[in-house]
Amino acid sequence: MTMRSSTSPPQLYLCRPAIAAAALLLLAVVPCGLADSPKPTAPHRRPAARFYSFDQVHEYPHDQHAFTEGLLYGGNDTLFESTGLYNQSSVRKVDLRTGKVLVQEKMDGRMFGEGLTLLGNKLFQLTWMSDVGFIYDRHNFSKRESFSHKMSDGWGLATDGKVLFGSDGTSTLYQLDPKSLEVVKMVTVKYHGNEVSYLNELEYVNGEVWANVLPTDCIVRVSPNDGQVVGWIFLHELKQHLLDSGNTDIDVLNGIAWDGKNHRVFVTGKLWPKLYEIKLRPVNGPPNGSVEELCPKLWWAGAKRQHATSRL
Ligand SMILES: *[C@@H]1O[C@H](CO)[C@@H](O)[C@H](O)[C@H]1NC(C)=O
Ligand SMILES: *[C@@H]1O[C@H](CO)[C@@H](O)[C@H](O)[C@H]1NC(C)=O
Ligand SMILES: *[C@@H]1O[C@H](CO)[C@@H](O)[C@H](O)[C@H]1NC(C)=O
Ligand SMILES: *[C@@H]1O[C@H](CO)[C@@H](O)[C@H](O)[C@H]1NC(C)=O
Repeated sequence: MTMRSSTSPPQLYLCRPAIAAAALLLLAVVPCGLADSPKPTAPHRRPAARFYSFDQVHEYPHDQHAFTEGLLYGGNDTLFESTGLYNQSSVRKVDLRTGKVLVQEKMDGRMFGEGLTLLGNKLFQLTWMSDVGFIYDRHNFSKRESFSHKMSDGWGLATDGKVLFGSDGTSTLYQLDPKSLEVVKMVTVKYHGNEVSYLNELEYVNGEVWANVLPTDCIVRVSPNDGQVVGWIFLHELKQHLLDSGNTDIDVLNGIAWDGKNHRVFVTGKLWPKLYEIKLRPVNGPPNGSVEELCPKLWWAGAKRQHATSRL
């Protein structure tokens, strides 16, 4: 024990790890005090999922011909984006403020671009209905390699800087080794014991994986260690507002980007003319009804692969 501990009240010895973790902050006394309470050692209970609405911080232009399948923040007010649809797929670098496409690589017309993530200087991209993916140099998209993977399809990608997280339209969240592209871990995403399927575009945010759930206006926040749902973000107003303003050709909410340095969250959708910076606002529960009603149908009904063929 350190000298400081030896001068502390005796009950602090009951929780030495807490002292160490708190780096000798005096605050450590607070949790230690709790450890002394007569509460019996209850089995560890995971906190219930948290719920979030949002406030809109900024609205930016977004290419309304971009069928957004992958999105990430590239630093310096730029985004990297992967777009889908046959004969229209691309990987691109986009200016956040103007929505202008700065650099673009059009894909072979038989390829349908999907999830995208950036690790080091490499952009990893998946393609739909295929096990083929591509790796691009972030500065020069024409320097390209391909790989294959063992997920059942290519939907979403994200990274924590060590592994790649992948989704394939099921309730499975994969971890892939970025060198071998082998699957190194799989967890099933569950909420209230039910599988959350149709996990689509992914983003890694502070130890969680956030996923768009096709075709809903909901983002699910997942613990990648065990697949448990730690939160739900309800974004219904975004698409509704676009529809109300006459944008009748838009498709689903899809695309989450996280600027970790400035703590900014960006979201958009397929063929949306706007991209939004949002700030999450905790709410006590789903604004109305239940999560099952608000983020509905496909994953709830368990109609697993059926939607894949009607995805366009
Ligand atoms: C950031 O973007 C601006 C405007 O596009 C550009 O002039 C500048 O060189 C960029 N800075 C870096 C560090 O890439
Ligand atoms: C893609 O373009 C080629 C050449 O124009 C055309 O033959 C093909 O039918 C198109 N494919 C789709 C899926 O639109
Ligand atoms: C990008 O890479 C390709 C292939 O290596 C090369 O031919 C081309 O000159 C590069 N372009 C730029 C702008 O560096
Ligand atoms: C709850 O509100 C959302 C967003 O306004 C709406 O789309 C949905 O239909 C409502 N659900 C129920 C069950 O009332």
